[in-house]
Amino acid sequence: MLRIGMLTSGGDCQALNAAMRGVYKTITKNSKEPVEFYGFEDGYKGLIYGKFRILSDSDFSNILTIGGTMLGTSRCPFKTIREPDEKGLDKVEAMKQTYYKLQLNCLVMLGGNGSHKTANLLSEEGLNVVTLPKTIDNDLWGTDMTFGFQSAVDIATRAIDEIHTTAFSHGRVFIVEIMGHKVGWLPLNAGLAGGADIILLPEIPYDLKKIIDVIEKRDREGRRFTIIAVAEGAISKEDAKLSKKEYKKKLSKSKYPSVSYELADQIVKKTGREVRVTVPGHVQRGGAPVAYDRVFASRLGSEAGHLILKGEYGFMVGYKNREMVKVPLAEVAGKLKMVDPKARIIKEAKLMGVSFGD
Ligand code: F6P
Repeated sequence: MLRIGMLTSGGDCQALNAAMRGVYKTITKNSKEPVEFYGFEDGYKGLIYGKFRILSDSDFSNILTIGGTMLGTSRCPFKTIREPDEKGLDKVEAMKQTYYKLQLNCLVMLGGNGSHKTANLLSEEGLNVVTLPKTIDNDLWGTDMTFGFQSAVDIATRAIDEIHTTAFSHGRVFIVEIMGHKVGWLPLNAGLAGGADIILLPEIPYDLKKIIDVIEKRDREGRRFTIIAVAEGAISKEDAKLSKKEYKKKLSKSKYPSVSYELADQIVKKTGREVRVTVPGHVQRGGAPVAYDRVFASRLGSEAGHLILKGEYGFMVGYKNREMVKVPLAEVAGKLKMVDPKARIIKEAKLMGVSFGD
């Protein structure tokens, strides 16, 4: 009997269900021995507290196109994973106990950055773990692409597209704040696809003066509006000089809900222009996966299933240079994949007149 546990961890995204379906179908259709699938509910919490259900064919039918995760998810921060819970329970020990009690052969974890640190820890503790790269942020080390990303790019792009008409009609400056946590893949791609005039990324600290210059130049050229795609993690050149602690303190005292509102205020003060902020927020993580993500997540799931059938554990399945690859969990855990400010895509955008505020 082959017993597989599966959980989804961290923020949800599109194509989680498609990826799980890929794992399930590959294993159940190709295993030489009977298979049992255990779905842990709400991420690592399900593994800690033994909350699971046995999954069968009907659970995986009709889910390819459905967003979110049928197992539920939660954030279970790695930095406190070694701390006992409120009742004094050792969480890592509890996860191992659940795994051994159910006599699992392997745990499949679909997650992003933080979740991979816990997956690596469990692997180091002796559990057989295989993971899949999930996140709209596309910031996971060891893979060129994560599933969820392309779907989120499409939604964020539509938000920018649809702002154009109002920006033009009213002759306003519009800021569209785009998710991505501490990295700029999502705002960069949505900003380019949506034809933003200025794109601000965490990796390229901005200079307010440069932003004002672009707005005023567009004014002089008779353009009625300016659209700025701002990463939720965008940072000014002055703030980038602060230590992590100083910057956190500044944010905690700020009257602005996010960087976009501070920037909007500064632009109003300097130019007297009408400025509006739009924050699509979690809409970017919602709804059905686009076709690319359905195919990509299914392929990743199938590759993970294949690894498990071969008894190869301790890997994340990723995608590098257009090839499916297996990356040791220790290599993935704790590293971020950032946008390189010197990358060709940035150069190309600049050649087309896009400003990055630097
Ligand atoms: O990691 C995905 C993500 O959507 C980030 O882009 C964003 O910063 C964060 O999650 C939001 O987290 P939450 O859903 O916990 O508010």
